[in-house]
Amino acid sequence: MGTIKNVAVVGAAGKIGRPIVARLLATQLFTITVLTRDGSKQLAFPEEVIVKEVDYDSVSSLETALQGQDAVVSAMAFEAIDKQKSLVDAAAKAGVKRIIPSEYGNDTLNPKLATVPIYQPKIAIRELCEQKAAENPNNFSWTTIQNASFLAPDWTLDFVVDVKERKADIKDGGDVLFCATTYEDIAQTVAGILTHLEETANRPVRISSVNTTQNEIIALAKELGATEGWNLTYSNTGDLEAEARKRWAAGDHSDEVIAMFINRAFIGEGWGGYFPVLDNELLGIKGIGKSGLRDIVRLAMDRNSLD
Ligand SMILES: NC(=O)c1ccc[n+]([C@@H]2O[C@H](COP(=O)([O-])OP(=O)(O)OC[C@H]3O[C@@H](n4cnc5c(N)ncnc54)[C@H](OP(=O)(O)O)[C@@H]3O)[C@@H](O)[C@H]2O)c1
Repeated sequence: MGTIKNVAVVGAAGKIGRPIVARLLATQLFTITVLTRDGSKQLAFPEEVIVKEVDYDSVSSLETALQGQDAVVSAMAFEAIDKQKSLVDAAAKAGVKRIIPSEYGNDTLNPKLATVPIYQPKIAIRELCEQKAAENPNNFSWTTIQNASFLAPDWTLDFVVDVKERKADIKDGGDVLFCATTYEDIAQTVAGILTHLEETANRPVRISSVNTTQNEIIALAKELGATEGWNLTYSNTGDLEAEARKRWAAGDHSDEVIAMFINRAFIGEGWGGYFPVLDNELLGIKGIGKSGLRDIVRLAMDRNSLD
């Protein structure tokens, strides 16, 4: 399968794209080309990063940009997942050896999750990757990254438990275990895949920095001083799913409905938000343990310093 030297990154200015570029550069193993949309808000990348403007609606524009690239890492935004169709077509045509399409979430192979409308674009892209790999078995391959929930003071903790405002909607009793992964560990996973091509070919890799529950996060916040003033509501992810399906079918594709589906997927038991078997060791993920989780809870409680 050879080695990977030239890596094109899509969505490099995004939430998970930025740590991925930083980690790949830190390894000093890769030459990084960032693909970005014409007129997109530009981020200042280090000078060794090559930046190319592309048109995601044009396979030929992408194929030209991908000439000479060994791998494509996509951190495309959730709302633009289907734009990766031309990216996968172009990557296969340009002779790219490995593509990591934008997943970074739950187990999209989970049969329950696979029925949820918001995951269909990601599933369609993975199926296209499977098709291209079957057509070019000696050259093209893919890996998806399944990290379940992001774990960051500025994102997940607001979504799952807002420890700064001391409020949470407790789902399914609050003791359902889910995996949560830091941006740094997701970025390391990309580097791990690109240096373990054989072991990661044509499959998802499953990672987790720490496994936790909503009630554990609240308990940690209480230990850290947030003892009183909690505003807790309670819901059932089955009810959220039922309402979301009804509203989605009626044309309501709002963020509120998307969040209901995501909550079902993250926290619903057996829905693909908890991985009993992980690829952490293969990919160099050490995990953060409970003390690392406590540090993130502390940072989230002290969010003024981050805002
Ligand atoms: N598991 C979790 O908890 C979790 C949480 C959030 C996100 N995610 C997943 O992580 C992946 C990346 O999400 P993110 O939040 O990091 O992405 P993001 O910051 O919202 O956007 C990433 C990049 O996508 C590019 N892009 C290209 N075409 C676009 C279009 N038409 N509209 C908007 N952006 C476009 C933009 O780069 P250019 O402007 O340079 O083209 C943008 O910087 C997605 O698959 C998402 O579902 C998972």
